[in-house]
Amino acid sequence: MQALPNIRAIPEMQAWSGRARREGKRIVLVPTMGYLHEGHLSLVREAVKHGDCRVVSIFANPAQFAPSEDFDSYPRDLERDVRLLVEERVDLLFNPSVEDIYPPGYQTYVEVEEVSRPLCGAHRPGHFRGVATVVLKLFNIVRPHVAVFGRKDYQQVQVIRRMRDDLNLEVEIVECDTVREDDGVAMSSRNRYLGPAEREAARCLQSALGRAEALVRGGETAAARIREAVVEEISRQPLARLEYADLCDPRELRLVDEVTGPTLLAVCAWVGKARLIDNRILAVPGP
Ligand code: PAJ
Repeated sequence: MQALPNIRAIPEMQAWSGRARREGKRIVLVPTMGYLHEGHLSLVREAVKHGDCRVVSIFANPAQFAPSEDFDSYPRDLERDVRLLVEERVDLLFNPSVEDIYPPGYQTYVEVEEVSRPLCGAHRPGHFRGVATVVLKLFNIVRPHVAVFGRKDYQQVQVIRRMRDDLNLEVEIVECDTVREDDGVAMSSRNRYLGPAEREAARCLQSALGRAEALVRGGETAAARIREAVVEEISRQPLARLEYADLCDPRELRLVDEVTGPTLLAVCAWVGKARLIDNRILAVPGP
């Protein structure tokens, strides 16, 4: 099998990108934290359509995990990741070390204020500050023309879009739909924390989103009543503990009272040791 070109050092990555740009190549970056699954690979496949060279970064970013969170136990399997990326024929893997990304004395962080506040931001203080910071660093190091993100982490994409606009970054953001297992559960590196009964229980997020969608299709517009149905659906599953279920406008992520246009329904629940998120855009039925 062909080897995958792999760069760990930041100056080397910058030199590679500089060369590619001088040759007129369009660089597409897919940032990940590794332990790749079909969701990640769908982004890698989408990336082909947007440029000439595909760079995948693998970096488990300590700055986006709170001290109590799962940074140390976050799954890692670089050998397997490399095999998958070779099969996808990506041009380059960038996997820097934590010491190079955050050397001693590091003290600069990016705060995307409002969009980071609700949903996951309300329950994971500092999370999006860590995400925005590392993504900006990756943009500066890899200098992509295009970067690809998944809608499973809906709020994350909005935070990155806002940062791009606010800081005048010259990078195009491409979004990909959520890839799911056969039973509808969104693929996630954290699904590996689930035992068989918990894996079964994880389906409640999907069924709650489905129930909400059916309500909206049936003409319900009151966010409180839609939310109530989601809460009820999750509470029927004894292995699941709801963290939040909220209806927001899909760009600024402000809570809405009424579903009058496309509305984001975002859900987060704990099942065993896994914190699972999922979302759906609810669309009001046409006339
Ligand atoms: P990670 O969780 O590894 O996800 C990397 C990318 O894959 C993200 O854009 C995420 O939205 C996307 N992704 C994950 N599961 C998916 C699924 N089931 N379907 C489609 N896309 C999916 O998100 C991060 O890493 C980090 O926060 C990162 C952006 C790399 C910054 O550290």
